[in-house]
Amino acid sequence: AVAQRLTSQRRKVRLLDFIRFRCQENREEGLEAGLKSKGCTIKMLPSFVYHTPDGTERGKYLALDLGGTNFRAMLVRFKRQKTRLYHKIYTIPLEIMQGTGEELFDHLAQCVCDFLDYMGLKNVRLPAGFTFSFPCQQSDIDTGTLVSWTKGFKATDCEGEDVVSMLREAIKRRNEFDLDIVALVNDTVGTMMSCAYEDPKCEVGMIAGTGSNLCYMEELRNIEKLEQSNKWGGLGNDRCLEDIITLYDVEVDIHSVNPGKQRFEKLTSGMYLGEIVRQVLLDLTRRGLLFKGHVTETLKTPGIFETKYLSQIESDHLALLQVRSILQQLGLHGTCDDSIIVKEVCGAVSRRAAQMCGAGMAAVVDKIREDRGLERLSITVGVDGALYKLHPHFSQVLKETVGVMAPQCDVTFMPSEEGSGKGAALIAAVVRQKLR
Ligand code: BG6
Repeated sequence: AVAQRLTSQRRKVRLLDFIRFRCQENREEGLEAGLKSKGCTIKMLPSFVYHTPDGTERGKYLALDLGGTNFRAMLVRFKRQKTRLYHKIYTIPLEIMQGTGEELFDHLAQCVCDFLDYMGLKNVRLPAGFTFSFPCQQSDIDTGTLVSWTKGFKATDCEGEDVVSMLREAIKRRNEFDLDIVALVNDTVGTMMSCAYEDPKCEVGMIAGTGSNLCYMEELRNIEKLEQSNKWGGLGNDRCLEDIITLYDVEVDIHSVNPGKQRFEKLTSGMYLGEIVRQVLLDLTRRGLLFKGHVTETLKTPGIFETKYLSQIESDHLALLQVRSILQQLGLHGTCDDSIIVKEVCGAVSRRAAQMCGAGMAAVVDKIREDRGLERLSITVGVDGALYKLHPHFSQVLKETVGVMAPQCDVTFMPSEEGSGKGAALIAAVVRQKLR
C-alpha cells in the first residue's frame, strides 16, 4: 500500500540521504548564492537587524504581528527587573486575506485602534515594531516591499509595495490614533530576538507553523547582494525538490493560491500538511484500500483535514477507537483498520516535513560553524509555530535530523514564549535607543 511505502525504512533512509545531498548542494547553490545575488531560489532577505538584544532595552513599545494564524496587537514594557506584556488576538477573515490591500490594512488599523482603546492609549504616539511575516525586500529597518504573498494571503495591490507605508496610510485614513512605526520585522527574526533576550547564544530563529522559514545572524562581509533584477525565487521553485515531491504534493500545489511557488513550504508547513494527507487518503480510497473504496463528498472537500488533526491523530495517548471517532467527527466513517492506515499516512507526512526542516536547519548551523572556523559550535535556535509546539513528534524528529546531519553542532531549541511580538518590540527599542 502507498501508506506503507511512504513509511518504509528504505524510503526513510533514501529521503535522509537525498536531503543530506541537497543540503550540501543548497549550501553552495542556495544559501551562499542567495547572499551574493538576488533572484536565487533561496531568498536570503536581509533584515537590517545588526545585533541581538543586550538586556539594556527599556521603555514602552507596541508590537503588531501579522502572518501566522492570527493578528496580534501587543504592548510591551521593558523594565530593569522584568518585562510586562499585554496583548489581544484578532482573527483575519478569509475575505479580508483575499480582498484588496486597502481593505486588509484598514482592517489592521481597526484592530490596532481597538487595542489602543482597550489599553487606554489612543492619545499616545507609541514607537511600534511591525512583524509582517511574508517575504519582504527591505531597504532599511522600517521599509520593505512585499515580494509575494504566501500562506493563503492574496490581497490585491500589495506585491511590490512598501507595507509600512500601506499601514501608515491606513492609520491616516482612520484618523483616530497615530503610531511611530520604527521597525519592520519577519516572524523568524522576531522569534530569534525574543529568545536572544533570554539566551545570548540564540542566533537563529525558526518558524514551523502555518508557514515555515528561518533566519540567522550572518557576517556582514558575506552579504554581497548587487542591485539586480527583482525576480525572486523560493526554495523549491527551481525544481530542486523534484525527487521528493509526490503526486499528492503536486495536487496540493496546483490548488493553492500560488501554484509553483514556495514548494519547500508546501511540503513542510501547517497550512499544507493536512491537505497532503487528504490527497493520499483520496488516492487510497480510489484504489479501494481505504473506507471500503467509498469516495465521499467529505473526502473530496479541500481543507477538511486541517493540520491540527494530524497532531491529534498522531498523539501517543490516543487509542485507535479515539482516532476512529476523530475521523467520524470529520465525516470520514471507517473501520479500525482504516484508522491505522490514516495514522500511518499522517505520520509519514509529518515526519517528512520535520526531516526537511531539520535538513534546512542543519545547513544553516553548519555554515555558521564553518564561517567561524570552529571544530564544534554550540548554538540556540528560537522557535515558534503551532506545528513545532503542538504536534506530538515534529520537534523530536527535527532535533534528531539536525543531530544526524550537523554532527559538529550542539543545537538547543528554545520555544518562544511570547511570540515574535516581543522580538519586534525589542528591535523597536534597539532602534529607538540608537537614535537618542
Ligand atoms: C506566533 C508569532 O507566536 O507564531 C507569529 O507571534 C508567528 O509572529 C506565529 O507568525 C507562527 O505560528 P502559527 O502556527 O500561528 O503560524
